[in-house]
Amino acid sequence: MKPRVLRYESLPSTNTEVARLASEGAEEGLAVVADEQTAGRGRLQRAWSSPKGAGLYFSTLLRPKLAPDRWPLITFVAALATGDALLEAASVQTDIKWPNDLLANERKICGILAEAIETPTGRAVVLGIGINLTNQAFPDELVNIATSIAHESGRPAEREAILTALLHALARWCSLLQEPDGAEKIAAAWSSRSSYATGKLVQVTNGAETLQGQTRGIENDGALRLETAQGIQLIRAGDVTSVRPATMNV
Ligand code: BTN
Repeated sequence: MKPRVLRYESLPSTNTEVARLASEGAEEGLAVVADEQTAGRGRLQRAWSSPKGAGLYFSTLLRPKLAPDRWPLITFVAALATGDALLEAASVQTDIKWPNDLLANERKICGILAEAIETPTGRAVVLGIGINLTNQAFPDELVNIATSIAHESGRPAEREAILTALLHALARWCSLLQEPDGAEKIAAAWSSRSSYATGKLVQVTNGAETLQGQTRGIENDGALRLETAQGIQLIRAGDVTSVRPATMNV
């Protein structure tokens, strides 16, 4: 993957811009960074607050040569790469909440949005990563569930150093994903870095349905195994929150 980084002062959404460039034939590795987003998007149709200079708003184009059942692992690759970059460039240690939220001290510091798109040269993925550089990145009312690089490290966040580390780390993890045993290695690395992988009491909300149970690892395609009162269920989409044991049904 050869990175080519385009920089903008302001965009509606870096994911939307990469999708637009992909539809015009952009190559794998194209990356877009904006100082602010006016219509930043998150998972599950949520908005992603993106004020000027408060976050790293980054998207890149991937054209993976992968079996369809491996595509969900792209978000795991993004979480692993971003975790590497935050440790290397900001000395911030992170945990991963399934599928791909990065947490520091149990608060969200980074969100990842991977969107599959059709382009004239084939199916592609727009991988969007939003990293909170300062606490101004998110609304005040989220201060108990969100955090930032500056807050966690106690020093100003160096956006360029984080971006450089992220580009290198993404290249490393993406090339592992293409290897024959890449899926197993990525699932194992994800599990070793996530306190949510196994033995965590969680609630999973997916649309109208809410399940509670204990996590029992992940499948090689990224699905979360959840042990509920009805047995093991495979979770492929939804919002996971950790639950205190006293409130559990199982
Ligand atoms: C989440 O809901 O946790 C995912 C948030 C992803 C935000 C990033 S910021 C850069 C890119 N552009 C967007 O509009 N969204 C992603």
